[in-house]
Amino acid sequence: MTPTSMTPISPAHEICAASRLENVRYAIRDLACVADEVVKQGHKVLPLNVGDPLNFDFQTPPHIIEAVHKAMRDGKNGYAPSSGIPEALEAIRGEAARKGITTVQDVFVTSGVSETVDLCLSALVNPGEDVLTPSPDYPLYSAVLCKLGIKLNAYDLNEDDAWQPELADIERKITPRTRGIVLINPNNPTGSLCTRQMLEQVAELARRHSLIVFSDEIYDKLILDGTPHIAFASIAPDVPCVTFGGMSKNYLVPGWRIGWGIVSGGAAAVKTYTEGVNRLLRARLCANHPEQYAIKPALEGPQDHLVEVQRKLRSRRDLTQKWCEATPRVSCVAPRGAFYAYPRIDIPESDEVFVKELIRQKHVMVVHGSGFGQKPGTQHFRIVFLPDEATLTKAYAGIAEFMRERYGES
Ligand SMILES: Cc1ncc(COP(=O)(O)O)c(C=O)c1O
Repeated sequence: MTPTSMTPISPAHEICAASRLENVRYAIRDLACVADEVVKQGHKVLPLNVGDPLNFDFQTPPHIIEAVHKAMRDGKNGYAPSSGIPEALEAIRGEAARKGITTVQDVFVTSGVSETVDLCLSALVNPGEDVLTPSPDYPLYSAVLCKLGIKLNAYDLNEDDAWQPELADIERKITPRTRGIVLINPNNPTGSLCTRQMLEQVAELARRHSLIVFSDEIYDKLILDGTPHIAFASIAPDVPCVTFGGMSKNYLVPGWRIGWGIVSGGAAAVKTYTEGVNRLLRARLCANHPEQYAIKPALEGPQDHLVEVQRKLRSRRDLTQKWCEATPRVSCVAPRGAFYAYPRIDIPESDEVFVKELIRQKHVMVVHGSGFGQKPGTQHFRIVFLPDEATLTKAYAGIAEFMRERYGES
């Protein structure tokens, strides 16, 4: 076609994103624009917003790096089987047994727990149905449900009861169209752990209403008060459940993107659903291949690094808790697992304004409670307490000063 015979160029048409994405938010990274502003002015921002231990003084155990290196050198660089390499699947089954999960029906490897969440929700819900998610929650759950066009149905965690799920609220919100319940245990953003009694009560509700439970246990080896972690599926072997686990946090390799799902419950009850999950697993080919060779040495090899990680986290949790107790307008349920604290703040403005101004004025980056969900009328922010004690002390002094300057002495 010559230029003269071409159709006239019409005014540029904007390519719009799907309207169901309007509510997709990921506050943890959405704050980056405000931080960029501050960095452009020449300041260094202290990132207490992203749960990445590798940003701080934590190191990946060398033997698992070597396992991946060796896999690459040995030519394990092609596609892997869709559900994962056999030795990783066997190691995950071993881990399930150690967690007390006795009715395993399937296991599969994913690109991070993020992909497990996406696949497991996508394989479950039809239009018009819903899944109960905690409020506050790790925002990926709401983001995936929004992406699927599913109306959110959030149940409250009760701050006055150490952030346990509010059973009455769950019960109130179950409808004939509800298909599942998400538990995050240990919890992000609160650092809370579900009690055995709570898990038993959730199991009873799941039985009564034929629901599947998605139990996100990505932080199950980062328990800070010496109590053993209780896997939901271990106390409810009959209830359909997918336990989510992964390498990012327990083995300090978030960039490798390795997670997994362990399907448990009655074989007949989970058969069709498991086939659905596997159809999606095949459609996306496979999870990262060489990194899967680290799963067996991680789960079955030395766990020494965890002693050091827990020691550091306990000390940093205690420092955080002391600061919360000593600071006017701040109160906090002491975290028992993971590396997050979720203090409540009594301030006369929104917590989103609070965190944005805190970044601008003191260059400390935390995440606002409204980015995770909270009861109306309450305000919170999430702290990642991974930095060393000196860095945390400096950050908390900055936050306290900011609050004094902005809200007065008390
Ligand atoms: C509760 C929870 N689930 C899942 C994830 C995602 O983990 P992954 O790095 O395995 O995708 C995170 C990451 O912070 C998390 O906190």
